[in-house]
Amino acid sequence: MDKKFARITLDPEHRISRVDKRIYGSFVEHLGRAVYGGVWQPGHASADEEGFRRDVLDLVRELQVPIVRYPGGNFVSNFYWEDSVGPVAQRPRRLELAWRSTETNEVGVNEFARWAKKAGTDLMMAVNLGTRGIDAACNLLEYCNHPSGTKYSDMRIAHGVQEPHHIKTWCLGNEMDGPWQVGHKTAREYGRLADETAKALRQIDPTVELVACGSSNTGMPSYPQWEATVLEEAYNSVDYISLHTYYGNRLNDTANFLACSDDMDRFIRTVVATCDFVKAKKRAKKDIMLSFDEWNVWFHSDASDSDTMQNRPWSVAPHLLEDQYNFEDALLVGLMLITLLKHSDRVRMACLAQLVNVIAPIMTEENGPAWRQTIFYPYLHASKYGRGVALNTAQRASKHDTKEFTDVTDVETVAVWDDEKEELTVFAVNRDLENAIVLESDLRAFEGYQFAGHIVLEHGDCKAVNSAAGEAVAPSTVEDRDQMEDGLLRSRLSPASWNVIRLKKS
Ligand code: AHR
Repeated sequence: MDKKFARITLDPEHRISRVDKRIYGSFVEHLGRAVYGGVWQPGHASADEEGFRRDVLDLVRELQVPIVRYPGGNFVSNFYWEDSVGPVAQRPRRLELAWRSTETNEVGVNEFARWAKKAGTDLMMAVNLGTRGIDAACNLLEYCNHPSGTKYSDMRIAHGVQEPHHIKTWCLGNEMDGPWQVGHKTAREYGRLADETAKALRQIDPTVELVACGSSNTGMPSYPQWEATVLEEAYNSVDYISLHTYYGNRLNDTANFLACSDDMDRFIRTVVATCDFVKAKKRAKKDIMLSFDEWNVWFHSDASDSDTMQNRPWSVAPHLLEDQYNFEDALLVGLMLITLLKHSDRVRMACLAQLVNVIAPIMTEENGPAWRQTIFYPYLHASKYGRGVALNTAQRASKHDTKEFTDVTDVETVAVWDDEKEELTVFAVNRDLENAIVLESDLRAFEGYQFAGHIVLEHGDCKAVNSAAGEAVAPSTVEDRDQMEDGLLRSRLSPASWNVIRLKKS
């Protein structure tokens, strides 16, 4: 037996779940240059008649983003939504406490809804349960979703928006477990507030789906008791619990960094177990689903962000969280996507945080183009080819240990079968930094399927980055790495690589 190996067996019967396309969601917060200078920049050469950058819209459409969380994030906990609607000239400027910035309110709820329509995406709206509560949440929902004939629906119409926005998914606050959150609460306080807010929102619009805040990451002292307490209060009135996590290669140890998706895997398993524990306690019938509505790599900008927020004057759209991603970040993003898909029976929504300029796959130059970061590519591939039924790959692979993790598989895989188009895609990351590994896929249960292509993201330098000047890290199609015979496919995965292996019924 080879020392390094990876084998999978694919069978249409070995289903994890039909993938909810919202697992490929993203996030735009009023933070840094995400909105101002990102999605919206009147005066830019590519701006449309409403000031939205067409170059950004094109890239968002290319990613086929199905849902975008808005307007925060930490921002939402001191968001006064009424300031963001109505005649722009009358909108107040505000001190925005989460990011110590000046919020001009030039883009608000209605503008962002219009942008979302242009981008071909749905909105996931968050309400302020930090400085505000049930009343502001109800009023915003009435403003957005009620047809007409009431104070806030008529206010929307007076603002020129006749048709309701029909926003289905609502987040009940953001990271309320975090001491950094404006209006931070204990689990019991938040659970009660989430429950009462949820019940009131459902009176206004019974079709909404509601997400309660889970833990901000697995390192929080209140994790995972937070989830249990919140759900003890709000189990019957919410549909989802959120998970957030960001990783960074702070030890400058690539092998260890690439094992971080194992932490994400454990996080999901623990939250599922906690939901099911509360379900059993409550003798409940429904399952609580998971909304992994913030995930990504985030650490490159740490030092400059604390300087901006601690030492610089309040300003509009400062440069914040502008991580420039490298090749190894793209590999971890690929691994995190695989992890989400492996849990797609419970993770129904997920948001790559964020979308433009702020820890984002898309960056913009103020007087120049929009460009693709390294992490753009695994996200693109998953969103494009990962629609259908996620399959358990029954993976067996050699393993290694890293500084912080043990039994880390050398190769990670998941497969998605598009049963309508009769296409099958295997996503695989070889996280061995030195060795190519042959992935052996037993496809005999997929009779008539033939190899149709192999896309790879690879680079000799884990620290290689893209920029407006050019893409050092971009995918290529490889012709010489796959051999198929009698339903057995052998694919060579180069060291440290993201692979998209496509099959099609002939
Ligand atoms: O995405 C950046 C920030 O990360 C969000 O505002 C907050 O929810 C999280 O801590």
